[in-house]
Amino acid sequence: MAKPLTQFVCSACGATHKKWGGRCDACGEWNTIVEEAPLSTGPGAKALGGKKGKGMALTDLATEERPPERDGSGIAEFDRVLGGGLVSASATLVGGDPGIGKSTLLLQAAASFAQAGLKVIYVSGEEATAQVRMRAQRLGLGDSPVKLAAETNLREILTTLDAERPDLVVIDSIQTMWLDTVDSAPGSVSQVRAAAHELVSFAKRKGVSVMLVGHVTKEGQIAGPRVVEHMVDTVLYFEGERGHQFRILRSVKNRFGPADEIGVFEMTGGGLAEVPNPSALFLSDRNERAPGSVVFAGIEGTRPVLVEVQALVAPSSLSQPRRAVVGWDGGRLSMILAVLEARVGISFQGLDVYLNIAGGMRISEPAADLAVAAALLSAREDSALPATCVVFGELSLSGALRPVAQAENRLKEARKLGFSSAIAPEGCKITDGADMELKLMPDLARFTGDIFGAG
Ligand code: TYD
Ligand code: MG
Repeated sequence: MAKPLTQFVCSACGATHKKWGGRCDACGEWNTIVEEAPLSTGPGAKALGGKKGKGMALTDLATEERPPERDGSGIAEFDRVLGGGLVSASATLVGGDPGIGKSTLLLQAAASFAQAGLKVIYVSGEEATAQVRMRAQRLGLGDSPVKLAAETNLREILTTLDAERPDLVVIDSIQTMWLDTVDSAPGSVSQVRAAAHELVSFAKRKGVSVMLVGHVTKEGQIAGPRVVEHMVDTVLYFEGERGHQFRILRSVKNRFGPADEIGVFEMTGGGLAEVPNPSALFLSDRNERAPGSVVFAGIEGTRPVLVEVQALVAPSSLSQPRRAVVGWDGGRLSMILAVLEARVGISFQGLDVYLNIAGGMRISEPAADLAVAAALLSAREDSALPATCVVFGELSLSGALRPVAQAENRLKEARKLGFSSAIAPEGCKITDGADMELKLMPDLARFTGDIFGAG
């Protein structure tokens, strides 16, 4: 078979396609498919045949392995998201929108690791060293022993790293790096993949930890961080709403610790500041007795976080009423509206529904179902829940409430922040109710009847 000269690759997710199309079938993004030379054609089409290789050494599972050594940066929120500190010879990807603060975060982390005694090199492919130095001085990190370089040629970078043998190298960003062996522009899927592959295998070979910055892009010409997610040990995303100063660092994959762990930061004039108690922050501006506002006791990773779920329900002038969601899944909102209609006969027909998670937080836990239902009902009935009440529980399509994990931790956090009652599913295993007044509900019908006198 003739070798294909080019292929079509999605720059958002890296899927390959036989021909060009406006939309990638794999990830659903529009205008991300670009034409590229195939990365490598491999060692020909011949099968291995009967020729023998060297063979490989096999080992067993019983041999005791020490837990990986970790180095703490001293930035507790950052260390937690890494799973308790930086594992040596690990590869970490930090993705996020341009301007969200990735360079700031990694410069601060690099400085902290350097102050903790690691040898750290920061390679910027986007900014001149003078710019990075100026930022470091503004952040008060001018005297940390981080070594800087502005370089994009990976051959030069790897030669230097091989000679210097640092403990940690930060590459800002992977999309600016290029290999002279790959015949396409920096930022293309094949360059980004090849550069990440070189860096990750260098990390494993030489015992150097690497942190790669990856921009989430909307234009098709530049590959997004998703195309290298599978190569690295840990994938972190730095997210936040524009207009909010909060930033959330979230681990979506971690070979050395729990995924879905979050670290919360605040962008200030002097860089990123840790937020050790995010619940207090997310609830700080709450209007306590407003209809449509419900406090959800959630769990992010290993830590309980209280957030405010806000709903607004208003008569619609549209034939198809609006359903707008910020910080939650739109499909899940439709599901809850359908369950409310089908199981307790409360319809949202002819009503616009807006749902917002306050503070720029994004929730993906199904345990928020009941809090969302409560916010919707509270907005629709114009009746506020008690200000000292938290809500959690997963809703099934039958209208039953399903128990959720870590109920006691949720209650403890709520108690700590001054809440005194909780509405939760009946099936939750609670032996220590943390002095909270508990209202345990079997299903949505009981909930709407008891709390709102509706249904
Ligand atoms: P940056 O780290 O350059 O973002 P990224 O590398 O993700 O593109 O951060 C850019 C934004 O952060 C910029 O809009 C200004 C803001 N910022 C502050 O508010 N305070 C600071 O101390 C710093 C360094 C940046
Ligand atoms: Mg940057």
